[in-house]
Amino acid sequence: MIMRLKDQVAIVTGGGTGIGKGIALRLAEEGANVVIADIDEETAKDVVGEIEKLGRQALAVKTDVTDEQSVANLIEKTMEKFNRIDILMSNAGVSRMGKFIDISEKDFDFNMDVNAKGAFLVSKAVSAVMKQQKSGTIIFTISMAGKCGTPLYAHYNASKAALLAYMQALAMELAPNITVNGVCPGLVRTSMHEREIKWTAELRGMSEEMVASEYVAGIPLARIEEPQDVANLVVFLASKEGQYITGQAINITGGMILRR
Ligand SMILES: NC(=O)c1ccc[n+]([C@@H]2O[C@H](COP(=O)([O-])OP(=O)(O)OC[C@H]3O[C@@H](n4cnc5c(N)ncnc54)[C@H](O)[C@@H]3O)[C@@H](O)[C@H]2O)c1
Repeated sequence: MIMRLKDQVAIVTGGGTGIGKGIALRLAEEGANVVIADIDEETAKDVVGEIEKLGRQALAVKTDVTDEQSVANLIEKTMEKFNRIDILMSNAGVSRMGKFIDISEKDFDFNMDVNAKGAFLVSKAVSAVMKQQKSGTIIFTISMAGKCGTPLYAHYNASKAALLAYMQALAMELAPNITVNGVCPGLVRTSMHEREIKWTAELRGMSEEMVASEYVAGIPLARIEEPQDVANLVVFLASKEGQYITGQAINITGGMILRR
C-alpha cells in the first residue's frame, strides 16, 4: 500500500474517542506519526497503543483546548519528540441540546469555549510552528450545524458557524504555504451521537428508537456516518493531492445538506 502521509507529524485534538480517534488511526495507517491531545488522558493513551501497533510513533498529551497554558504544553511536548508539525486536526468539540430559551449562559459559553475558542488557541499555537517551517495543513472538524440552524442546537450552531468563518479567515492569512480547511460531517456514530439521540428523545417526547430511525430516514445515503468516512476525507485534504484546496468547508453528510 502506498502511504500518502509517510513520516508526517500530526496533532489530533479530541483524538481519544469518536471522530478524532477514527482520524488518528487513518492518519497512522497512511504513515503519519500522531500526537493525541485530549482532555481524557486514558482514552488518549489507548489510542497511542493502537497507533504503535501499526508501527508508527505516537504520543498522548493531556490537553484542555480551552486553556492557553495547556495548549502551550501540547506544542512543547510535540516539538520535543518530533521537532515539527505537518498536520493539525483540530477536532475537539462538545455539544448539549436544548430549546434556545432554556439554554443557560454557562451552556452557551461551554459550547463556544471548546468549539470556537479552543480551535483558535490550538491553531494559533500550531501555525506559529508551521510558519517557521513554511509548510503545513490545518483541518477543523466543523459540522453541517455550522452551515444551517437546527432546532435544539442554537448554541452549537453558533459555535460551529463561528468556527467556519474563522477557518476561512485563517486560510487567507496563512496562504500560500499553509492550507486551511474544514470538514462538515452529518450524523456520525460516536458517543456524542448517542447523547444526541437520548436528548432528542427526551426533548421531543419520542422513543430513542424512533429518533434513530428518523435520523436515518433523513440521510439520502441511508446509513449513519462512521468516523472512517470523515477520516478518508481528512487524509485526502492532508495528502499531496489535496494541496490546491484551501478555505473550504466540505460537506460529508451522506447527502443531507445540498448547495451550501
Ligand atoms: N458525532 C457527530 O454526529 C458530529 C457531527 C458533526 C460534527 N461533529 C464534531 O466532531 C468532533 C468530534 O465529535 P465526536 O462525535 O467524536 O464527539 P465525542 O464526544 O465522541 O469525542 C469528543 C472528544 O473531544 C474530547 N474533548 C472534549 N472537550 C475537550 C477539551 N476541552 N480539550 C480537549 N479535548 C476535549 C473528548 O474527551 C473526546 O475524546 C466535534 O468537534 C463535534 O462537534 C460531530
